[in-house]
Amino acid sequence: MGIDVDPDWWKSLFDDVYLVTDARSVCDEDLTRREVDVVCELLPLKKEDRILDLCGGQGRHSLELHGRGYGGCTVLDYSDALLDCGKTAAAARGWEMNFVRGDATDTGLPAESFDHVLILGNSLGYLPGVADDVRIMKEARRLLRPGGWVLVDVTDGSVMRRKFNPNAWHEIEGDIVVCRERELGDNCIRAREVVLSKKRGLVRDRTYAIRTYGPDGLAGLMKEGGFADVSIRRGFSSREVEGDYGFMDHRIMTTARKRPA
Ligand SMILES: C[S@@+](CC[C@H](N)C(=O)[O-])C[C@H]1O[C@@H](n2cnc3c(N)ncnc32)[C@H](O)[C@@H]1O
Repeated sequence: MGIDVDPDWWKSLFDDVYLVTDARSVCDEDLTRREVDVVCELLPLKKEDRILDLCGGQGRHSLELHGRGYGGCTVLDYSDALLDCGKTAAAARGWEMNFVRGDATDTGLPAESFDHVLILGNSLGYLPGVADDVRIMKEARRLLRPGGWVLVDVTDGSVMRRKFNPNAWHEIEGDIVVCRERELGDNCIRAREVVLSKKRGLVRDRTYAIRTYGPDGLAGLMKEGGFADVSIRRGFSSREVEGDYGFMDHRIMTTARKRPA
């Protein structure tokens, strides 16, 4: 029997448990620093720029950028739990940062209010249809000033499919074991994630489906979203050690521009 997925899975999966199961990707400051190094290399960022970290989770990239003097970051995410985590981290450093709860397809933020929009850490492909990802790209374009830049960082779907691994597991700090069973769909990968604590028993048994894009598909998506000057860098990995890191490896970093007025 195939893996059955609730189309709204993404509304509740990104919680405190995710911060444990995905800690080796999203709670590792060295990795985040390397990712932000690439952001700074690929985009013409100025210290005074207004930067939207769309689907920014707990704001790890914005926190790193803020620490480097880019004080105009706003983090938008759907998950209250992750936003609270980011707010706590900013407050602990004494930083005033903007964390906003919203849906990336329709943020409610004012048009043309950012110089850059970042969509990092494989945060596309969660909503049910490709049309939803086009809506996210169009919303990013609406939020950018003319001439502003978007950067999308997703896993390379063509590599994921070629190296497809139907079963993966990893252990965290001797207690938590994360088991992932995966299945290839036409343009997505479906997964069942079972999380066990050796001390407490079952922590989570959930399924999800993520649409993947190869370089051509991603370039097409950005053009459909109205972007120009699409440029793709393949083969990015912020890690030094090989392993199965799911959607957080073999990344494509894509930049594009909203045409100047
Ligand atoms: C894998 S996490 C990555 C978060 C962050 N960009 C990072 O690299 O740590 C994906 C994030 O996208 C958010 N997300 C997915 N779809 C969204 C949507 N339609 N609107 C707002 N947030 C969304 C989730 O809540 C989650 O925090």
